Amino acid sequence: MSNSFKLNLVQRPRRLRRTAELRALVEETALRPADLIAPVFVIDGKGRPEPIESMPGVFRYTIPDLVKECGSLRKLGILAVALFPKLDPRLKDEDGTAALREDALILRAVRAVKKAVPNMIVMTDIALDPYTTHGHDGVLLSDRSDVDNDRTVAILAKMAVLHASAGVDLVAPSDMMDGRVGAIRRALDAADREGTAIMAYTAKYASAYYGPFRDAVGSAKASGTRSLDKRGYQLNPANRREAVTELRLDEAEGADIVMVKPAGLYLDIIRELRFATRKPIAAYQVSGEYSQIQAAARLGWLDLAQCRRESLVSIKRAGANMILTYFAKDVAAELNG
Ligand code: PBG
Repeated sequence: MSNSFKLNLVQRPRRLRRTAELRALVEETALRPADLIAPVFVIDGKGRPEPIESMPGVFRYTIPDLVKECGSLRKLGILAVALFPKLDPRLKDEDGTAALREDALILRAVRAVKKAVPNMIVMTDIALDPYTTHGHDGVLLSDRSDVDNDRTVAILAKMAVLHASAGVDLVAPSDMMDGRVGAIRRALDAADREGTAIMAYTAKYASAYYGPFRDAVGSAKASGTRSLDKRGYQLNPANRREAVTELRLDEAEGADIVMVKPAGLYLDIIRELRFATRKPIAAYQVSGEYSQIQAAARLGWLDLAQCRRESLVSIKRAGANMILTYFAKDVAAELNG
């Protein structure tokens, strides 16, 4: 009589949510420092780390500070860094020729990190945007109507060999030209660099969330806009099947790891690729995803620590095996207790 409100339930899922211990016992996804790849920006010179206004808490480091930063990251259990150079604008030109210089900043940075922290996995972007005055990822056709796919691929293959020779473990073509993974694989093998792996930016979408990154590497200033139109080579955010087409090609061309980028808005793409491939999947939580959480936290509207954790766990739960994220260091520190 007094219990007439009681539901007659056999299943009560809340039983396993009752205490912290029970919740931990049935937890399906755990984040580890080893899951995180830290993107790091590099500059030339001797100055102090430069803050990036649109990415609070992220800096550009000179090579000596970069080396120290990589040492700290490794101590926190982060196993890989993705290095991005910001060039002196005077070195940029229409064809991005500075990308093939033997004394390029990125090559000096890679050698310094590999020498000081040999057990740190180093990856680098293979694309021309930090080097071109127009900010596109490749060289342009003579009428400047489009990126010249095949001429770009020839340059990227050379760039990949230079990076591999400097000691890079993973080259990461981020340009979205057709055929670049295969061309890079052939060039690496021909240069006796068959041990250098390729992390392909397989499903890289034409996203507005790359804005802060373009400030960080100076490609926004060079081109005069942060919203450079890359829809002629990056994927349409409206498309999912096309990501699988890119996956098939990258696998056939020799990609070792495939990537989805951005991450948080593209969880369905991560999931789709998870079912379609046995390769490890990387997801890139891009600059805009980072900065929007930072901005809301700064306004007191969101809790920074909880939101960044939730964003990363969700990306892993969707099927990513590793995550490039500007939160890597802080989250690793937090995970280490
Ligand atoms: C360049 C490159 C971009 C990012 C990584 N490599 C920007 C772009 O394609 O314009 C974006 C990373 C980020 O936003 O954090 N090829």
